[in-house]
Amino acid sequence: MNNPFLGKDVISVLDFERKDLETLFEYADRARKYVEGKLKVLEGKVVALAFFEPSTRTRFSFEVAAKKLGADVISVSGEEATSVAKGESLADTVRMLDNYSDLIVIRHRYEGAAKLAAEFAESPVINGGDGWQHHPTQAMIDLYTVRDLFGSIDGLKYALLGDLRYGRAIISFLYGLAKFNPSKVYLVSPELLKPREEVLRRLNELGLKYESLSALDPIISDVDVIYVSRIQKERFPDPMEYAKVRGSYVVDLKTLSRVKPSLKVLHPLPRVDEISYEVDSTPYAAYFYQARLAIPVRMALIALILGVEI
Ligand code: CP
Repeated sequence: MNNPFLGKDVISVLDFERKDLETLFEYADRARKYVEGKLKVLEGKVVALAFFEPSTRTRFSFEVAAKKLGADVISVSGEEATSVAKGESLADTVRMLDNYSDLIVIRHRYEGAAKLAAEFAESPVINGGDGWQHHPTQAMIDLYTVRDLFGSIDGLKYALLGDLRYGRAIISFLYGLAKFNPSKVYLVSPELLKPREEVLRRLNELGLKYESLSALDPIISDVDVIYVSRIQKERFPDPMEYAKVRGSYVVDLKTLSRVKPSLKVLHPLPRVDEISYEVDSTPYAAYFYQARLAIPVRMALIALILGVEI
């Protein structure tokens, strides 16, 4: 099998072609057989989780995925728990992790941190989210979830609702979607949360056709997938700007009263107030299932990068 991930860094979903993602998805299908058990294919290998910014899903699912493959895991949460707190640079920290591990997963509040880490590490580096820029493995999970729910990523109508300005997960999903053939893509957000120019330029280069809207209502009965993201409060340079958009959209039962019966609501999570809890028990809610699929997708990615069969 051609393995496009072998020894590679995973910094952005833009670095991979559709066929690469399809290889990953096929591997994730295989990994699903083992999520209840444990393999030994990575016995003796060490995966380092360097999370300098908070995380629940990414950190724990990478840890579980690595352990399910038989690897050992070393991890750090927050700069204060490392010698970064004493003034050590990110580059030196990465050099140390590189000494102690075979694969590094990094999350950082600064855009470009994962790319920098990849420049200093000999081991492959996976970007677990850098600032407002990229969250490639989340996009892989989200695309895999759509494929799993609908049998295909192509031909569907998508509404992406929320913080398209600062949300790295929703933007990465959009970049991933651009590798496929969606029938329609609606970008739905308040004016202040519209995508940055560089993102729109990239989408145009990729040939993704999209329509921008400020509300879901006109298209709600037309779409197959609503991908919701929270407002990324922590990335606003000015709290006054955040106050202007806080609570500006919500998906609740009223929103869903006119949708297709087959509609699915995705969200990379964490959720704050943009999806009402009452939606959780409807057949539309796919976001917890999406989070569960993180394990086989991340197992597949680790196995492919480190070149082991599952
Ligand atoms: N989706 C996601 O990245 O969640 P965490 O921030 O909890 O890792």
